[in-house]
Amino acid sequence: MKILICYFSGTGNTKRVVDKFAECLKENGNDVTLQRVEHEFNLNIEDFDLIGFGYPVHAFNAPEIILSFVKKLKKLENKKDVFIINTSGEPLKLNNISSIKLTSLLKKKNMIVKYEYHYVMPYNIIFRHTDRMAYRMWETAKKIIPLDVKELLEKKPAKLKKVFMGRFLAYIFRIEHWGGKFNGKHYKVLPECINCNCCVNICPTKNITVKDGGLHFGKNCIMCMRCSFLCQKNAIKIGFFNKWKVNGVYNFNNPGDTSEDKHKKYCKKAYQKYFKLSEERIAKASAE
Ligand SMILES: Cc1cc2nc3c(=O)[nH]c(=O)nc-3n(C[C@H](O)[C@H](O)[C@H](O)COP(=O)(O)O)c2cc1C
Repeated sequence: MKILICYFSGTGNTKRVVDKFAECLKENGNDVTLQRVEHEFNLNIEDFDLIGFGYPVHAFNAPEIILSFVKKLKKLENKKDVFIINTSGEPLKLNNISSIKLTSLLKKKNMIVKYEYHYVMPYNIIFRHTDRMAYRMWETAKKIIPLDVKELLEKKPAKLKKVFMGRFLAYIFRIEHWGGKFNGKHYKVLPECINCNCCVNICPTKNITVKDGGLHFGKNCIMCMRCSFLCQKNAIKIGFFNKWKVNGVYNFNNPGDTSEDKHKKYCKKAYQKYFKLSEERIAKASAE
């Protein structure tokens, strides 16, 4: 099968998951093409047997960049089933509503969402998970993805259960798309900045430019956190959300991390449930 996965990843979590997904699809004999939505797109979607869309959950929605990518796609001549992959920092059911708008946009293009897969990955905003937790999340995703890929190839429908009034709630939370643009104009650079221009080069919307020797933040920020997360000098203040800033990549290979988990009570039950259900599924699959 020829499979296309179009995805957005702000700080690398979704990319990690999509890469693993693609690896498993390839191991099963499929030809997989990956397309980052911020890059130039000149493929013919009619050429693919199966299409997937990957994104990080942003305020219980898909980021605007993936919605506008889909809006620009041409309508398929015949209906085709598609799949969604998303990652989020917490395992709340409310995250399941993130695909509602995307699903209806895809339907207009004759792409019918039959399969949805969700993986919990460490936060890139709000607070920093410990490396120990990041390791556990990634280990879990790595074991669950092959099971999901198997079910996808068997065409087993997989829709995430939506909460009551999900469509309305998702609509309200989409204020983040507008709020991100507003907040983005209030990003500031600290004196620690060494003018490496890393942020300028990696911003997916080319929103950061050099003006009069300093950095200028325009009105197209999508709050993906790439600039501030990857800034080596932690020199970017993210406007009104600076208290929630997370800086620096996670070490996903650090199970022995002994740093104190300051947020161990946060959504404790939801995380416990996510890991318990995942471990049960992994155990069941390996017993088969
Ligand atoms: C602006 C913004 C909003 C977010 N909103 C949510 C959310 O509603 N629920 C959630 O669980 N995680 C949320 N997150 C966390 C990300 O979904 C999570 O860290 C994701 O794995 C990041 O993926 P990426 O590295 O591919 O960008 C949000 C992150 C950002 C930057």
